[in-house]
Amino acid sequence: MNKPVDISAKQHAARAALSYVEEGMTLGLGSGSTAELFIELLGQEVAGGLKVRGVPTSLQSERVAIDAGVPLVEVEQVDHIHLTVDGADEVGPDFALIKGGGGCLLREKIIANASDLMVCIVDDSKLVEVLGAYPLPVEVDRFGFTITAKKIFDVLSAVSGSIPQIVQRLKNDGSQPFITDGGNYIVDCACSSFSRIKETAARLSAVPGVVEHGLFVDLARIVVVGTDNGADILEM
Ligand code: 5RP
Repeated sequence: MNKPVDISAKQHAARAALSYVEEGMTLGLGSGSTAELFIELLGQEVAGGLKVRGVPTSLQSERVAIDAGVPLVEVEQVDHIHLTVDGADEVGPDFALIKGGGGCLLREKIIANASDLMVCIVDDSKLVEVLGAYPLPVEVDRFGFTITAKKIFDVLSAVSGSIPQIVQRLKNDGSQPFITDGGNYIVDCACSSFSRIKETAARLSAVPGVVEHGLFVDLARIVVVGTDNGADILEM
């Protein structure tokens, strides 16, 4: 998986993303450690007088936002999201992403897709030439889970030409299945590489029982890459 990275690279990315935030915006608040750093920094801006409201993409982000003092709005009350700032597990060519390391991919994708702009914030270890070293998370309905996992195996075998390793995600102590905020299971699909990203995404989405997958295609328009020394802005 990703190499260990000094927290400062993530902080640099999170801080640089603040420059996209404007007064009065409704903001999608991503999930994961980098997004949480952004939420905490946003909270400092709110304390300084900035008026925004946030739509969290996970229960964990909601908790972080409440602690940081970021005003929140119920997703069902929102008809327009100006900007979403979220992390990623891998950033590949054309800003295709693998997301879902934290298990929040469904809500993250719903919010990113509803936003005028998605800014992805990562440390430089996340940039890859080919997606797939990070196992692809796929969220699946609990009903018929074994059948669905077999169908995912078939799809990934066909598109990658290799034999994927598909494992059900467990809670950290390994005792029970991991359950998403939406009540579903996650399977992590190690495939070593994905070259036909759009085809893979479409074929996974077509499997009954697949609730969502962690390939984010044509969603991020800006990627902010944090390094130990600062942040680089990459634009489509
Ligand atoms: C959660 C995600 C995260 O954005 C992704 O896992 C990156 O996390 P981190 O910023 O902690 O490296 O997709 O579902």
